This record gives sequence, structure tokens and C-alpha cells, in this order.
Amino acid sequence: MSKQMSHLDNIPSTPGKFKMEKSAYVHHRLRWHSSLAKLTFWSFMFMGMILIFFFRSPSSNPLPQDPSRRSLRTYNWGGPAWEKRVRSSARIRSRNGISVLVTGAAGFVGTHVSAALKRRGDGVLGLDNFNDYYDPSLKRSRQAFLERSGVFIVEGDINDSALLRKLFEVVAFTHVMHLAAQAGVRYAMENPGSYVHSNIAGFVSLLEICKSANPQPAIVWASSSSVYGLNTKVAFSEKDRTDQPASLYAATKKAGEEIAHTYNHIYGLSLTGLRFFTVYGPWGRPDMAYFFFTRDILKGKSIPIFEAANHGTVARDFTYIDDIVKGCLGALDTSEKSTGSGGKKKGAAQLRVYNLGNTWPVPVSDLVSILERLLKVNAKRKVMKLPRNGDVPFTHANISLAQRELGYKPTTDLQSGLKKFVRWYLNYYSGGKKAAG
Ligand SMILES: NC(=O)c1ccc[n+]([C@@H]2O[C@H](COP(=O)([O-])OP(=O)(O)OC[C@H]3O[C@@H](n4cnc5c(N)ncnc54)[C@H](O)[C@@H]3O)[C@@H](O)[C@H]2O)c1
Repeated sequence: MSKQMSHLDNIPSTPGKFKMEKSAYVHHRLRWHSSLAKLTFWSFMFMGMILIFFFRSPSSNPLPQDPSRRSLRTYNWGGPAWEKRVRSSARIRSRNGISVLVTGAAGFVGTHVSAALKRRGDGVLGLDNFNDYYDPSLKRSRQAFLERSGVFIVEGDINDSALLRKLFEVVAFTHVMHLAAQAGVRYAMENPGSYVHSNIAGFVSLLEICKSANPQPAIVWASSSSVYGLNTKVAFSEKDRTDQPASLYAATKKAGEEIAHTYNHIYGLSLTGLRFFTVYGPWGRPDMAYFFFTRDILKGKSIPIFEAANHGTVARDFTYIDDIVKGCLGALDTSEKSTGSGGKKKGAAQLRVYNLGNTWPVPVSDLVSILERLLKVNAKRKVMKLPRNGDVPFTHANISLAQRELGYKPTTDLQSGLKKFVRWYLNYYSGGKKAAG
């Protein structure tokens, strides 16, 4: 949008305005003619631009770098057949089941959470804009996998209030599992707007609809361990400071927590934030180290091993996806109802934040050694200084609060989890894309 507007802004509002005055009648007529010609010319140009603007289909010609174009994408939704699919996907099939709107359902965590909820008989409806931050065909494969288990993913953006309102009209969701976001720290150099679009504006747009819904749903949303930023006190506890973000991603996640507090306080929405610590596993994200290390080791390409200051080790509290899913379900199951109705608060509502990690940081060089053993290929390691573009040297979770209140207890060590990831990876990329689930 901004690109188009800046073109239009360059068009002089009064064409011919800077022409020199020559006073005589003939000149006046001539000027009138030339002004008319210019006016006609600019009118055609203007109409042409408008036509180009409307007819350039975003799906056939996407501009991945421009987040505002994403918000301009038009999606097909609505109609009786569509509503039937929405209702059927969200239908509760077990006693005491819940009906959950899962945003970011075609994403890594969203796919696993949606499948787990469906398996236990809950109603699940997905929502995702299938953006191209990473290979959208992986998102389409996850969609196909979920479709086979009876989960329908509505294609749309969380900023589309009309769509969200419609979804709440069709289904009285008891819960929202909000996982749609712009993830990753490095992409901020390329496309800072996408973090604001999805992690801030999109979150507000979703909360606005939830606050007005009747009944209001309880909301569980993904925050991130990145809010601990450059903290050196370990292990990271929920009570620690979160005011030193090291990336735009972290800053928007931190802002998300403030926004959640506000909606809880003003409108009585029940909100639970989950601070995930480096989640990995089958159907994972190609922008994450364990994923592209696997790809590059297999290709014989060298892989960067980052080193902190003074040859310090870079370590991560890697958490296996099945453990994260249990934490998400635990959070949904212990959520209390929102207390407001019709956009008005009726009483205090639940507000919680939990770490979901694995309590055992592993040096990234160990991760590479495990991958080498599993892939039976030696990696070409290239040791490099940790760039100052948002990555922190280590993450380490204290999970006692989630253990106590959600029954969260991670059980998968990195070796076993990576084994499952590698099996999935080899199957998926050797042509078994459909069967990989
Ligand atoms: N995977 C991790 O290690 C990790 C760690 C910390 C936090 N998180 C958080 O967990 C959540 C899920 O992460 P993930 O790893 O599954 O990421 P992901 O990128 O695989 O999934 C996010 C999904 O949201 C969708 N999306 C993005 N913006 C949208 C919008 N405006 N409207 C509709 N859909 C939109 C994307 O298309 C994508 O499918 C995110 O909030 C992420 O920040 C993940």
C-alpha cells in the first residue's frame, strides 16, 4: 500500500502549475489546451495506476517483503458451504470437550496443538494467512495433514476483523489458542513491519473481537523466552525482569504481554501467556538452526556455529514439540472463564504467564554432534562470532511454576527428540510429503 501511495503522491495535484505566465489571449488558449492535454494525460496515468493496483493479484504476484501487502490480500470466505465446514471442524465430539480457535494453525506449533486437541475430541478451527516468511508449501502440507484429521484451516489474517467477527458468529468458541505471529529474530532486518503487523496489530485485533464476543472466550497465547533478553541471572523465572529485549521480535512479544495485561484488566478477558524456549521437532520451522543445519549437513554445506564473547558457548534450552503441546493443553484446561460480556468487565479475570522450557541448556555444538551421528555425515563447522542482530547467548528455563500449576513435565531429551525430527525430515524431503505426518 505504502509503495502505491508514494507513487500517487508524486503526481502533481495541479498539473501544469509551474508553467510560466505569458499573459496574451493566444497564449492563454494554448496554455488551456496544453493544460487540458496534461490533465487528460495524468487522468489516464492515475486510472491506469488504480487499475494496476486492483488487478495485480496478490496470490499471483506477492511482494513478500512488504507486510502491508499481506494485509491487502483478499481471501475467500463466507457462504453456506464454508460455514458448514467451520461448524463441523469446531464441533465438540467428547464429553467436557472445548471448542478452540487456533490461530497460526498451519504453523509448526499450531499444527501439533490442533492435531492433539482434535485427537481428544475437542472442536478445533484453524486460522492462518499462509504467509511466505518460510516455504509456504510446508504450511500447505501441514494443512493437508490436519485436514485428514478433520481440522479445517480458514485462510485469513488475524487483522481481518470482519472475518474474526464472522467466525465468532458461527461458533461460540470457549477458547482461543493464539499462535499466529511473525517468529524469528533475524527477519527484522528485512521486514520490521511484519512484526508489528502480526505480533502487535494482529493481537489487538484478535483481542478486540474476543472482548466483544458473547460469551468471551478464554485466551492462551504464545509469548517467548526472548522477553528475558540479555538477562544473565539463571535460570529464567517468570518473576525476572523483561525490560532488556535484544531484538524487535522480543520487543513485540514483550508488548504483547503488556497488551494482554491491559485487556485482562479493562475487559475481564482470561489470558494465559506461554513463554516457549526453542521448540523443535517434526514439521518444524526451516528458519531454525536444527532444521537448516540438517539440510546443510546433508548438502555438504558449511554451517555457522556461533560463539559468544570471549569464546563463550552459545546454548539453548531446546524443548521437544510434544512436551510443548502438553503444556499448551494444560494451559487451556486450567484456564478460567473470562468474566466480561458485551465488551464490559464484570469482575477480575485470570491472568497468568508460564515458562515452557526443558530446564537443560545444550550447547549448539552438541546439537551439531547429535545431528552428525543421526545423519551419518560429518558437518563442516564454521565457528563465528554471535552477530549482534537479536540472538542471545543462552536461554535456560525455570519451569517450576508450570510444573505446579499446569502439570507440565518435559520428558524428551534432545537426542531422542532429534531422532524423531530427522526421521520425519528424511521421509518428508524424500518424496513422502503426504505421509510424513
Ligand atoms: N518455535 C519456537 O521455538 C518458538 C519459540 C518461542 C516462541 N514461539 C512462538 O510460538 C508461536 C508459534 O510459533 P511457530 O514456531 O509455530 O511459528 P510458525 O511461523 O511456524 O507459525 C506461525 C503461523 O502464523 C501464521 N501467521 C503469521 N502472521 C499471521 C497473521 N497476521 N494472520 C494469520 N496468520 C498468521 C503463519 O503463516 C504461520 O503459519 C509464535 O507466536 C512464536 O513467536 C515459538
